[in-house]
Amino acid sequence: MKALVLSGGKGTRLRPLTHTMPKQLVPVANEPILGYVFHHIKDAGIKEVGVVVSPETQKDVRQFLGKGSRWRVRITYIPQEQPLGLAHAVKIARPFLGNSPFVMYLGDNLLAQGIKEFMEEFHSTNPDALIFLKEVDNPRAFGVAVLDKKGHIVKLVEKPKNPPSNLALVGVYFFSPSIHEAIERIKPSRRGELEITDAIQELMRLGYSVKGKILEDWWLDTGKKDDFLAANTIVLDDYIRRNVEGKIDGKSRVDGRVQIDKTAKIISSIVRGPVVIGKRCEIVNSFIGPYTTIGHGTRIINSAIEHSVILDKCRIENIARLEDSLIGREAQVIHYDTNHSRALRLLIGDNNIVEV
Ligand code: DAU
Repeated sequence: MKALVLSGGKGTRLRPLTHTMPKQLVPVANEPILGYVFHHIKDAGIKEVGVVVSPETQKDVRQFLGKGSRWRVRITYIPQEQPLGLAHAVKIARPFLGNSPFVMYLGDNLLAQGIKEFMEEFHSTNPDALIFLKEVDNPRAFGVAVLDKKGHIVKLVEKPKNPPSNLALVGVYFFSPSIHEAIERIKPSRRGELEITDAIQELMRLGYSVKGKILEDWWLDTGKKDDFLAANTIVLDDYIRRNVEGKIDGKSRVDGRVQIDKTAKIISSIVRGPVVIGKRCEIVNSFIGPYTTIGHGTRIINSAIEHSVILDKCRIENIARLEDSLIGREAQVIHYDTNHSRALRLLIGDNNIVEV
């Protein structure tokens, strides 16, 4: 069994929050999305991973993943010159995939429970494709499946104008090598891409078995919109265990499920979980409340923050209440008059300076 991770594409950044990194590397609870993908692949016991990269994303992606040793896997990079579709990515990965069954994992998708159980199901039931479905509010933005009364898939359509159902295709697919035969037969879609959705539809037409499973747990397509706060909240709820390291002075208190890196300093402050505080952070005379992630190298001084994502190397100073906010990398939010108590809700892109 091999894995194919798709981390190419148009290299669209998640503006306005961050314009400096590919969407697969945007951090959720201080871990890039691709980190969760690889964690799931490692947990499933897969050792051979192909990673599709584009000219725009490859430098950052290679820098983060390296040879894969962090997850004890071997990575083969597969450059895709143009984003010609998910099925095109499978096509160019053929020399890597050979005749092996594989799981294709889209690099901007985040799943609650990983893929180990699904892989076991794929092996024991042995279909030609095992795909996952989840109800969504905006099916026009996804591949959509129609099921019959018995729950069998009867039709798949990519980003339909008039969605025949609200069951979206999740970005994790298990395939036998017969998918290559289907990909050879399909033509580019209206948007000029070789769609994996069309290839699966073709697989069914050819009489191969395609099994669909409705996901019980949460799933996020983080590339869809800058829904960081939602992703951050869900991941903090599900993944974070208490692990408090770093220097915490006698005047500070750390309650609940909190992760503090060993190089961080907490001085005269209260931290109430679930919270993640990254490397080399300094929290001075502040309150860090539930559902907050503080990125690496960020300094928070005389401030109270709740339900927010503050990315790396930011400075937040004298802000009496910051809530429901997203602050991009290397941004500064500073108030020079300490006597205010209004709650601020901010969305600030990378490298901005805001004085309030
Ligand atoms: O997230 C689930 C959805 O993913 C499915 O419901 C859709 O059926 C499927 O087509 C896909 O839709 P998206 O519009 O979200 O795909 P996107 O273009 O964002 O690409 C998904 C990932 O694959 C992303 O990490 C970039 C990478 N990619 C994409 C293309 C088109 C490649 O590596 N190469 C490509 O050519």
